Amino acid sequence: MIDTASFLNVWTGVAGFVVLYLIAWRLHPLYHIPTVGSSSLPLLSYIGAAKFSRNAKEVLAEGYRKYPGKPFKVAMWDRWVVFISGRDLIEDVRRRPDAEMSFSESVEDTMQLKHIMDPDVMGNPFHIDTIREKLTRVLPTIMPSVVEELEQAIPHNIPGASEGWVEINVLGALQHIVARASARVFVGLPLCHDEEYLDLAVQFAIDVMKDKDTLDNFPQSMKGFVSRIYSLGRRGLRRSAEKLKPTIDQRKSMAEKWGDDWPDKPNDLLQWYIDSEHADAKLKTISDRVMVTNFAAIHTSSLSGSLSLLRLAEHPECIEPIRQEVEEVIREEGWTKAAMAKMWKLDSLLKEFQRHQGLSLASLSRRVMKDLTLRDGTFLPEGTALLATSYDIHHDGDIYENPEVFDPFRFSRMRGDSGEDRVKHQLVNTSVEYMPFGHGKHACPGRFFAANELKAMLTYIILNYDFKLGGDGRPLGPTFDGLSILPNPNATMMFKKRESKV
Ligand code: HEM
Ligand SMILES: *[C@@H]1O[C@H](CO)[C@@H](O)[C@H](O)[C@H]1NC(C)=O
Ligand SMILES: *[C@@H]1O[C@H](CO)[C@@H](O)[C@H](O)[C@H]1NC(C)=O
Repeated sequence: MIDTASFLNVWTGVAGFVVLYLIAWRLHPLYHIPTVGSSSLPLLSYIGAAKFSRNAKEVLAEGYRKYPGKPFKVAMWDRWVVFISGRDLIEDVRRRPDAEMSFSESVEDTMQLKHIMDPDVMGNPFHIDTIREKLTRVLPTIMPSVVEELEQAIPHNIPGASEGWVEINVLGALQHIVARASARVFVGLPLCHDEEYLDLAVQFAIDVMKDKDTLDNFPQSMKGFVSRIYSLGRRGLRRSAEKLKPTIDQRKSMAEKWGDDWPDKPNDLLQWYIDSEHADAKLKTISDRVMVTNFAAIHTSSLSGSLSLLRLAEHPECIEPIRQEVEEVIREEGWTKAAMAKMWKLDSLLKEFQRHQGLSLASLSRRVMKDLTLRDGTFLPEGTALLATSYDIHHDGDIYENPEVFDPFRFSRMRGDSGEDRVKHQLVNTSVEYMPFGHGKHACPGRFFAANELKAMLTYIILNYDFKLGGDGRPLGPTFDGLSILPNPNATMMFKKRESKV
């Protein structure tokens, strides 16, 4: 039997809990930022998180519509993420120094690579500048070896007969091709023909993404611990270091013998990395740096390339105009970087794929490193996770005409004659309105290489094959999983050899 005193006790307990709960909610440092997709009340936010993993696209579209140019927040399982859009906010964020907003710390928050990666790689991330500057500068010199690699790798992975059509899983085929062409430039011959190395280079990103899916189930405070005891990526890094060891040892001994330069010194990323490290740099540091590069380069490029090719197959009326353009350009310029720059229609196809679909709903990932106030007056406490709603920007009717239409030549038409438009609407140009490579300080440093590699690969395919959609001829669309836009792994295409005229 409940007496009055204990009834009152229980009641006071419940009331006290409710009051504390509301105070905690009201005092939450992100309280002032509107919430989308759920209630911001503690616990109820988990309902929002569940909704987000299934319906991120709709949730972000709602936020973008309701709060144009203003920040809004969305609940994830483990934390809140603040999303921004609009020229002023994005310009503000992209200009902030690393001490205020960090890209690498935001990657670390989700991936926890520091527990498996050699600390000197991220401690001194010079590879970003090497990729942006040196790799981009030598593109004219290295294009012939990329092309040579493609000429072997493409027929090997797309063995189209001259009679009859052959059905191929495009994502798989182009992944091998990109891995091999990239490896030629990253680690050179003969490693770029070593199937075991190529498997490790491809698998590492897959393992890290699996690790990330595991980590996503844990609160932020436990992620470091979990990644220390469980990681698929760690094994991949250990085996890659073993695999790269003979090559790295050999190059180091050449340097001991010859100093800075020697006849036939390799001109690849691995060599530039070795040259930039301390003389006594560990094998693991050099090897992990190569693997971080593979992680950033291979899947992004192969997915963009294969999904653009699938899109082209969905629009067969666009194949002939592109074929004519690349034929003409190759005839004039050969398989050079100068030729790739003149392929406006192909450039536009790749750019339109990234605008219309792309690989992610958001970019410009940042972690706020100290309490600060954005230019619009929004206060962000240290530790806040920040992203830009790039997908919604790319689908905004005020920015792009008929944004839902996939229009392969949208950007080549816009390039027109004026000097500025020529630069602005090419694939590698980033802006507040085009962010598949991010924007600003941390915009993808590999995009110049990627654009050239992808154009050479697609040109070779377009000139040497006829192709159309496989299966029942209907496109298989992507699935949306959280922020990721995942291609349908079953997408196939039919290929038939054709005689290239150049
Ligand atoms: C189509 C292919 C590619 C796409 C779509 C892509 C996309 C991106 C994006 C969205 C970012 C983050 C930018 C931000 O959020 O601010 C990034 C960063 C990066 N990318 Fe790429 N990328 C591609 C190819 C490559 C290639 C080929 C390389 C290497 C050769 C590369 C190396 C990197 C590196 C090292 C970073 C980190 C930059 C930093 O920390 O400042 N990427 N990329
Ligand atoms: C993009 O194009 C605009 C307009 O020509 C130019 O001002 C800007 O510097 C370009 N940005 C990049 C990253 O190439
Ligand atoms: C791909 O095909 C497999 C086997 O037919 C099927 O189980 C799977 O659901 C398909 N995946 C997608 C995303 O359609």
